[in-house]
Amino acid sequence: MAFVPAARQPAGVADIAHRGASAHAPENTLAAFREARAANADYFELDVQQTRDHVPIIMHDATLGRTTDAEKVFPGRSPWRVGDFTLAQVKRLDAGSWFSPRYAGERVPTLAETLREMEGSDMKLLLELKNPALYPGLPGRVADELRAQPGWTLPDRTVVQSFDWPSVESFHRLLPSVPTGVIGTPTARQLPAVARYAGYVNPRYDTVTAAYVRAVHARHMKVFAWVADSPATVRRLIGDRVDGIVSNRPEAVPH
Ligand code: G3P
Ligand code: CA
Repeated sequence: MAFVPAARQPAGVADIAHRGASAHAPENTLAAFREARAANADYFELDVQQTRDHVPIIMHDATLGRTTDAEKVFPGRSPWRVGDFTLAQVKRLDAGSWFSPRYAGERVPTLAETLREMEGSDMKLLLELKNPALYPGLPGRVADELRAQPGWTLPDRTVVQSFDWPSVESFHRLLPSVPTGVIGTPTARQLPAVARYAGYVNPRYDTVTAAYVRAVHARHMKVFAWVADSPATVRRLIGDRVDGIVSNRPEAVPH
């Protein structure tokens, strides 16, 4: 079923699966995104970096060692930086066995493959530009990929976020129809400037207070807090009136 923005409005807080349902499947793989859908999450979150031949791929760390078998497949290529490997090389890696033998053979997905795989779902996307300082041109390449699969540019379908606020501002200039967010906790003094290019402020869960959420809402931005897995933290954030909760366990977020 194609995405219909009005068809699935979360009753309360948005349930956002962090790196997919990463407590249940290897993070940032198609398996984890499918698990997020099976858990009925509203959004799947992912991290975008780029290969040596400039292909946007889904990977959290700046190096490949933790979540793939790169150290075995490419011995002597320490420290196995993402941007030192071509897409063809990355596609040789197993991105599932480190998590469980059940996921042996899972591959590192490209952004294009992920958008295609999830297009038929009614899920929304929280897309992080990860380490953009390492990848000049990354905001533009991500904007191109979203334009190429335009269902992801429909109103309310995708939010693009980063710890690197200037890259968020660049992305906003390139594709203003897609909402953006800053990761972190901008001060009261910083909020007006952030509000000029971002619609979301996405703070770490332990920096959130009800007063902070009110201050962000007063600037007409939303708050997606990360990462909360325990029922007590989820309850507290809901009490603080956040708009979304990023969780490795999407089933922990009521909606
Ligand atoms: O959504 C925010 C969260 O993804 C940031 O943390 O390190 O998991 O990318 P990280
Ligand atoms: Ca992330």
